[in-house]
Amino acid sequence: MWSSNVSAENQLSISSIPVSQLAKEFGTPAFIMDEMDFRNRAIAWNLALTNAFGDNAGSVYYAAKAFICVEVARWIKDIGIGIDVCTGGELAVALKGGIDPKKIEVHGNNKSVDEIKKAVAAGVGTIVIDSLYEVDRVAAAATAQGIVQKVLLRLTPGIEAHTHESIATAHEDVKFGFSIASGAAWKAIEEVRKAPSLELRGFHAHIGSQILETESFEISAQRLIALLAKYRDEYSTQLPELDLGGGYGIAYVPGEVNLDPAATMKTLATVVAAQCELHNLSIPRISIEPGRAIVGPTMFTIYEVGTIKDVTLENGAIRRYVSVDGGMSDNLRPALYQAEYTAVLANRRSNASKISSRIVGKHCETGDIVIGEIDLENDIVPGDLLATPATGAYGRSMATNYNHVPRPPVVAVKDGKARIILRRETEDDLLALDI
Ligand code: LLP
Repeated sequence: MWSSNVSAENQLSISSIPVSQLAKEFGTPAFIMDEMDFRNRAIAWNLALTNAFGDNAGSVYYAAKAFICVEVARWIKDIGIGIDVCTGGELAVALKGGIDPKKIEVHGNNKSVDEIKKAVAAGVGTIVIDSLYEVDRVAAAATAQGIVQKVLLRLTPGIEAHTHESIATAHEDVKFGFSIASGAAWKAIEEVRKAPSLELRGFHAHIGSQILETESFEISAQRLIALLAKYRDEYSTQLPELDLGGGYGIAYVPGEVNLDPAATMKTLATVVAAQCELHNLSIPRISIEPGRAIVGPTMFTIYEVGTIKDVTLENGAIRRYVSVDGGMSDNLRPALYQAEYTAVLANRRSNASKISSRIVGKHCETGDIVIGEIDLENDIVPGDLLATPATGAYGRSMATNYNHVPRPPVVAVKDGKARIILRRETEDDLLALDI
């Protein structure tokens, strides 16, 4: 599930570095990232896309929102895949990391005029248009730069993806994209075609996140291809691209498994080929935007236990509250989506019997829960370290300064060496904005 093992010191280690050594050197809480695991997953998705779609393989655009920093942007550049950014901030990091602007795709349901201008001026490869306002705004920015901007239209294919409702994005009642069913998508197509500074390359859909079965992706592809056929029938020409978005799910707790890149892409390729044949279309260039599936499994968070409290519940049972030195500021997902994680005692091995426990953070809020229910060794004491796997996606990227807690660092480990790629915030950082 994650890249670590038990070392000679009888404790968890990553790339032969014991977790207690990482904690000593970098402090806690800290995100520890396995650089090779990141690179290998990015390469695996790229290879899976290429193998499944052959000449029709478009780009893997790594979804920066899952986690990005300048060093990771450099890795993306090295690996040679593209990147999906959805704000000016993410764009700035991608550019600072040296990613070729042509490999950048810009998303967002409310890109500011300034963000659009900067993206167009940087020469980004693709802008994904999400509203009729954006048709005008992107066209104006392109005209001002004297270029023709390649664009995709973000569409809502009307799918109830099997995931938490806050991260499902392709049913009708959402802020994203243009609905195919209502006719909004067709209207947007007509508007883009009227703009000489825009080149409509095709359609995009992202149906949601942390999806563990492929059926919804298949239905989405079918609906986008049906619209490609309608476009061809109307305009006697075929749009060359489809971007099927991200959302590929990963394992968070024992019993779950990551969606396999090769199998998932193969399934999609079969559906795409069959649908294109049905509509007598040539297979378009297919792109995808995995974020979580690339970065999620590559990090774990180390926390230090601070206090332990046994609470008697109404039914007389005891629940042990184990408080750690982070919480909802470094992992908002349990509070926001009731997301589940697991944790292990990381600095030593214990054969003590287990006790029903709840791992909580240090924030002033009852909902500040890292893991609601977990059996932990009953000899855990303050000073012990707990490691939570699979925190790479939407952990550090959604971290906050709630209660003025400085955000943790990201430490990359490779070949037995650890280095900071995103440093810990300091109290000076926290005070830097005050007047
Ligand atoms: N493409 C688009 C247009 C997206 O909106 C997203 C995610 C992705 C790609 C990448 O999805 P992924 O492969 O990472 O699932 N904060 C939530 C997830 C929100 C995802 C938003 N969009 C969470 O922590 O689960």
